[in-house]
Amino acid sequence: MISIKSEVPEEGPAIEHLLDIAFGPDRKSRPSYKVREGVAPQSSLCFAAHHGPSLAGVIRFTPVHVGDDSRAVLLGPIAVHPDHENLGIGSQLMKTGIAATKAVDLQLIIAIGEPGYLTRFGFEPASPHGLSFPVLVEDQRFLVLPLTDGAAQRASGMVSARHP
Ligand SMILES: CC(C)(COP(=O)(O)OP(=O)(O)OC[C@H]1O[C@@H](n2cnc3c(N)ncnc32)[C@H](O)[C@@H]1OP(=O)(O)O)[C@@H](O)C(=O)NCCC(=O)NCCS
Repeated sequence: MISIKSEVPEEGPAIEHLLDIAFGPDRKSRPSYKVREGVAPQSSLCFAAHHGPSLAGVIRFTPVHVGDDSRAVLLGPIAVHPDHENLGIGSQLMKTGIAATKAVDLQLIIAIGEPGYLTRFGFEPASPHGLSFPVLVEDQRFLVLPLTDGAAQRASGMVSARHP
């Protein structure tokens, strides 16, 4: 039985351990960590997945600016423990997270990640929209999901940390 619930603070250490396993111990040198540094994820947009009694996955979003628009978040991490992959848990986390961002009047989700996975959820290349990322990333991994009609057309500029 798979359940998706809001992340609770007590799960923090177990989530850190899961992220080390999913991304490897050098995960904090990844480009999206550089932008998230010093900014807490938006707690209302953080979810944990359980498969039976086991913590199986996590999704978080961090506030960012895109140009001068503050109605944006950076996806990440999204991760599922290798023991629980290919059961649809990542997809359930993505759908839950995207629905939650829409419910709080956000316009854009930015992601640095796997295009083959993220395009399943509507993400598209960000650079053609005039968006740029402050850390060097492979262009194909720099993605955006517009959350409202016209959001992508209105968006332009650099992604930067947003301190709430
Ligand atoms: C990517 C990840 C979150 C997927 O979680 P999951 O629970 O296994 O995903 P789901 O069960 O919802 O979906 C599985 C499908 O996604 C595909 N998939 C998984 N990782 C993929 C990737 N990197 N690129 C393209 N497709 C991928 C699988 O092949 C499978 O395809 P199918 O439906 O055609 O069989 C998980 O593998 C993971 O945590 N990976 C390591 C961390 C990572 O790379 N996170 C960033 C992803 S942007």
